[in-house]
Amino acid sequence: MSRIEFPSGFHWGCATASYQIEGAWKEDGKGESIWDRFAHTPGRVANGDTGDVACDSYHRIDEDVALLSQMGCTSYRFSIAWPRIQPTGRGAVNAKGLDYYRRLCDALLAAGIRPFPTLYHWDLPQALEDDGGWPNRDLAGRFADYADAVVRGLGDLASDWMIFNEPFVFTVMGYLIGIHAPGRTSMDDFLRATHTVNLAQGQAFQAMRASRADARIGTALSMSACEPTADEEEHAEAAERWHRFTNVWFLEPALHGRYPEAFLDGVPEAALGLRPGDADAMRAALDFVGINLYTRTLVRHAPEDTRGLGALPAGGMGGDEGPKTDFGWEVWPDALRDTVLRIHRDYDGLEIEITENGCSYADAPDSNGQIEDRRRIEFYEGYLAALHEAIEAGANVTGYHAWSLLDNFEWSEGYAQRFGLTWVDLETCERTLKASGHWYGRVVAENGFER
Ligand code: NOJ
Repeated sequence: MSRIEFPSGFHWGCATASYQIEGAWKEDGKGESIWDRFAHTPGRVANGDTGDVACDSYHRIDEDVALLSQMGCTSYRFSIAWPRIQPTGRGAVNAKGLDYYRRLCDALLAAGIRPFPTLYHWDLPQALEDDGGWPNRDLAGRFADYADAVVRGLGDLASDWMIFNEPFVFTVMGYLIGIHAPGRTSMDDFLRATHTVNLAQGQAFQAMRASRADARIGTALSMSACEPTADEEEHAEAAERWHRFTNVWFLEPALHGRYPEAFLDGVPEAALGLRPGDADAMRAALDFVGINLYTRTLVRHAPEDTRGLGALPAGGMGGDEGPKTDFGWEVWPDALRDTVLRIHRDYDGLEIEITENGCSYADAPDSNGQIEDRRRIEFYEGYLAALHEAIEAGANVTGYHAWSLLDNFEWSEGYAQRFGLTWVDLETCERTLKASGHWYGRVVAENGFER
C-alpha cells in the first residue's frame, strides 16, 4: 500500500448539467430548449424519458448543496440553461431565471464551495435552432451576448467559468449523427457548426474578459487517449489525426488561431465557412482547459472513410481489454494519465482541471437501503491514481470533478444509465449517497487515499 497525495489546495468537486438535473422545464419564464423539443418527440429518447422533472434540482438547491457539503467538496461544476436567461436566445435577461443561479451560488459560497459554472451544456434555445442552429454563424454573436449577460449577472458570485461543454460531442451527435438534439445528420451542417462554436468561443471569451477582467475562463472538452489498433505506421498516423479531430478541434483555434491538420486533404476551409479574420476571431487565451475523460479510443487506418479523415474508431467506447461499465465503456485509467500529459506537453504546461470523469453502474439500494457500488469506487481509485501519476510527472492539474453528483438524465439513454455518487429515486427524487459518495468524501477529507 502506498499513499496517493494530491497537491495542497487541489479542488475536489462534482459535476452536473442544467437539462440533466433541473427539471422545471417551463417554469419562471424559461423558454423551450432543443432538448425539450427533442425529448418530447416520440422515439428520440429511450423509454420516452424527458428532463421535464429530472432530479428536480430547480427546487432542491439546499439538498444538492448539502450532499456536496457532506462529501466536503470544494467545487461544484454546474451549467446555466441559456433559455432560463434568455428564453428565445436574445434580448433582455429573465430575472427569475438568473435568480435561480444566484441563489445556487449564494448557497455554495455559504457552504465554502466554489461555484464553477459552464455557460453552455447543450440546451440551446429552440428559437435559435429555428434560425438555423449552430451551423448559422450569426449564433456566435448571440452567444457572446448571452455570455456577457451571464457574467454581468453572476460575476460577483462566480469567478471561474467554462464557456462550452464538449463542443465536439454536441456538434457531432446533434448535427452529424443525429442521436442528440436537434437530431440533424449532415456533414456540412456539422462542420459549419464546429466553426460557429469556435467563433462563439473566441467572441464570448472577449466579452467575458471585457466585463470582468479578473474572471478565470476555460472550456471543457471531451477527450480520450487515441491509440492505434496495431503497430503499423499507418494506424499510428490515423490515431494522430483522430486525436486532432476529436480532442483539440476546439483548443487549437482558441490558443493558436488555427485548425489542426486532422483531414487528409488539409483543413476543409470552404466547408467550414472560414472567412478572412476568423483566425483571430477564434482566439481565446484560456486560463485553463477542462478535460472530460471516460476511456480511450482505439483507432485504425481506414481508407474507406468517407469523411476525409482516413481514420475510424475500432469498436465502441474503449477497447476490450479492461472491464466494462454498465454502459459498455471500457475502464482504462491510463487514458487519463496519457491524455493529461499529452495536453500538458503540447500546450506548454497549460493549467488543467478534470471537469468530468466517472462511470455508469446500476447498483441499487439493498434491503438496508445502502448502495454498495464497489465497482464505482474501484473505477475512481484507478483513474485518480493515474491522474496522480500525471501530476507527479509535472502536469499542472488543479481540480477534479466526478461525473456526477446525481444519477440523472443521460441524454438519449434517458435515466437508464446511472453515473451518480448519489442514488436518485426517479419517482420521488429522494437522494441517497452511495458507498462511492461516502468513499469520495474520505478522499476529499484526506486529499488522497491509500492504495
Ligand atoms: C459527457 C457529458 O458532458 C455529460 O453530459 C454526460 O452525461 C457524461 N459525459 C456521461 O456520458
